Amino acid sequence: MLKRTPVTRLQKRFTRKRVVFQIPEETGGNEASGRISPLYMVAKQTSATSLRPPSLPTCPGRMIGREQELEALSTLLGPSEVRLVTLTGMGGIGKTRLALQVATNLRASFVDGVYFVSLASILHPDQVIAAIAQTLTIETSDDQSLLDAVKHALYKKRLLLLIDTVEHVITAAPYLTYLLETCPHLTMLVTSRRELNLQGELTFPIPPLTLPDLTTLPACEDLLQYTAVALFVQRARAVYPGFQLTSTNADTIAEICVHLDGLPLALELAAARMKLISPNGLLLRLRDSSTRLSVLTNGMRDAPARHQTLRQNIAWSYSLLTQQEQRVFQRLSIFENSYTFTAIERVCCVDDEETQATSLVDNVSSLIDQHLLHVIWDKKKDEPRFMMLETIRAYSQECLEKSGEKATIHLTYATYCQELPKEAVSGPDNIDQKNILCEDIQVREELKPSLAPSSLSHTSLTTREIEVLCLIAQGLTSLRIAQRLTITTLTVNSHVRSIYNKLGISTRSAATRYAIEQNLL
Ligand SMILES: Nc1ncnc2c1ncn2[C@@H]1O[C@H](COP(=O)(O)OP(=O)(O)OP(=O)(O)O)[C@@H](O)[C@H]1O
Ligand SMILES: [Mg+2]
Repeated sequence: MLKRTPVTRLQKRFTRKRVVFQIPEETGGNEASGRISPLYMVAKQTSATSLRPPSLPTCPGRMIGREQELEALSTLLGPSEVRLVTLTGMGGIGKTRLALQVATNLRASFVDGVYFVSLASILHPDQVIAAIAQTLTIETSDDQSLLDAVKHALYKKRLLLLIDTVEHVITAAPYLTYLLETCPHLTMLVTSRRELNLQGELTFPIPPLTLPDLTTLPACEDLLQYTAVALFVQRARAVYPGFQLTSTNADTIAEICVHLDGLPLALELAAARMKLISPNGLLLRLRDSSTRLSVLTNGMRDAPARHQTLRQNIAWSYSLLTQQEQRVFQRLSIFENSYTFTAIERVCCVDDEETQATSLVDNVSSLIDQHLLHVIWDKKKDEPRFMMLETIRAYSQECLEKSGEKATIHLTYATYCQELPKEAVSGPDNIDQKNILCEDIQVREELKPSLAPSSLSHTSLTTREIEVLCLIAQGLTSLRIAQRLTITTLTVNSHVRSIYNKLGISTRSAATRYAIEQNLL
């Protein structure tokens, strides 16, 4: 049975005086026009039994891929086998786009219509029912709450409600349960960056668009079968009709799509740059996490604010985190690739009690629920590993930068890396940490004869060496430093040897400590 208690309590708040809703021109729910009236306003007089014919918003460009998801969702929702499906996934993954397509395809299955309710512009959970009532143009009477009015209007209806963008008003979710309980033919398709966590809810996570494997790239003409590449090319052509996927730029385009993690919004923003920047120029900016987000900033003027830039998109999710979750999120930016929970514990539980191990589990699990952190299963070791997508990590690095604890976290990380071989009998459990350690061990071996306390200060380092030193201190591997500075890893390693030699040190943690002490970061 679905729980009733919270709704009954909340329901009382709806029993208020009637005022009049402002009905938007369209019931489409465009955020730009969709200013939702306050909760206790009442819809324009219309018969509750004759709902307005619904109109769904249209989307620019052709829908790419998602055939399997469309089929699965139509099978679930069409015959009303499941009455509450929540499409989840990180911001910009394509939840709304897919939901609209599903709703469009299912029109014939719902004789009383398919309605789109956007909650993106409402600020408070109390406004959720008002938003639904507004879309359905439902009226109340003096002695009737808005919730009751909606319930009575929907009681006999075979209707699909597409409720879009729920994550910021998720505490209103029990209202939805209440409506489903009391309206037996009602079906809901919800989009939210996190699941609602309701009984009877079927959560449907949306994966990124498909990506080619960069190590075995197919021929140029076959690249378009990957939906991320197809979307990039479609959107690039929209801004620059002469754009072509050719054998000359195919590898670059494929790598661009991989750096953008197959995220539709990021692909759209990047593709829009094609009228100004060459594919190579774009790739260079995307490879570098410090410039990645700055290039993804040119959303359509009529798109919702959180789709104007990728930074704003992730910021929306970040703003919904608790302070503790935010702290863990930013600290995790120190890791590249994937890592174990032990590694998270070692680096995140620095000094404050808030992020101590017990709450850390909850915080990490909440980040996973909100699609800011991903779990992959290490089959060999039979344990979970964690990772952030590149674009999300770029944002979390910015947060760490602003937090003022960047140096501390880098030092903790460096110390952790240095201690790893002692405690991990089977070797370090992070590819990048392993790389860093191998680099350190190799450099230490090479420098053995010349290692002696040095009296030289960093002024004896060249400008390039100082640059490399700072990147070491930021936890970057030689490969990443090479990519950042557009030089080879051999050159990076030779700079590292020279830095160690000049400073009389032999490890990355010593280099990090030195950079911090000298205020180089
Ligand atoms: N399969 C697709 N084919 C074509 N365009 C797509 C596809 N998926 C997403 N898009 C486009 O990518 C952009 C982001 O998609 P969408 O708005 O659906 O993301 P979202 O997951 O709902 O994001 P948010 O959590 O911010 O609401 C939109 O412009 C959308 O039209
Ligand atoms: Mg959406």
